[in-house]
Amino acid sequence: MRTVSPAETRCEMTSIVMPGQTNALGTVFGGQVMSWIDVCAAVSAQRFARSNVVTASMDNLLFRAPIKHGHIVVLHAMVNWAGRTSMEIGVRVESEDPLTGVRTHTSTCYLTFVSLDGDGKPLAVPTLTPTTEVELRRHAQAELRRSHRLQAREADRKLREQMGEVS
Ligand SMILES: CC(C)(COP(=O)(O)OP(=O)(O)OC[C@H]1O[C@@H](n2cnc3c(N)ncnc32)[C@H](O)[C@@H]1OP(=O)(O)O)[C@@H](O)C(=O)NCCC(=O)NCCS
Repeated sequence: MRTVSPAETRCEMTSIVMPGQTNALGTVFGGQVMSWIDVCAAVSAQRFARSNVVTASMDNLLFRAPIKHGHIVVLHAMVNWAGRTSMEIGVRVESEDPLTGVRTHTSTCYLTFVSLDGDGKPLAVPTLTPTTEVELRRHAQAELRRSHRLQAREADRKLREQMGEVS
């Protein structure tokens, strides 16, 4: 089984906020931020899995501060944890004032991606090898989030079953 370090999965994306991406207040649409996050996470997931990947889930996303028209958006993504066929990617979003260079942390998001084979079936991923203190901390935290996610999914399934919605 191939091994990959979290550092090898890093992705950094930078862009300038354009008028078509902003609302009447001159700040970026939430859906635009979600799209940037999804693309940055997908690159990181592919650098890890070296296969086709799909987004299975995106954890609740908080918009901590607005991102203004003309500002620079910087996203950092990295694979934190990997299971048999899925992986968690953490993405940090920052807004940079182009005139002062001051950066503001605007969002952090955790996504689950699943590796797929040519038939669209879940495919085993390589082994992730966290080694640094930061990588090990992120790995342990991701494992905890994964167990919360599975519990939430099961609770949702039971609720839908009670309501007669589960197929
Ligand atoms: C994601 C998808 C492939 C999972 O298929 P599935 O039949 O549920 O597959 P499995 O039950 O074998 O689960 C595969 C892995 O995904 C994980 N997973 C599935 N759904 C998940 C969810 N909602 N959140 C977190 N993890 C999830 C499972 O825990 C498993 O992980 P593991 O192999 O590391 O233990 C399927 O639901 C799908 O194709 N969804 C649509 C994806 C899509 O269109 N995304 C948007 C465009 S990219």
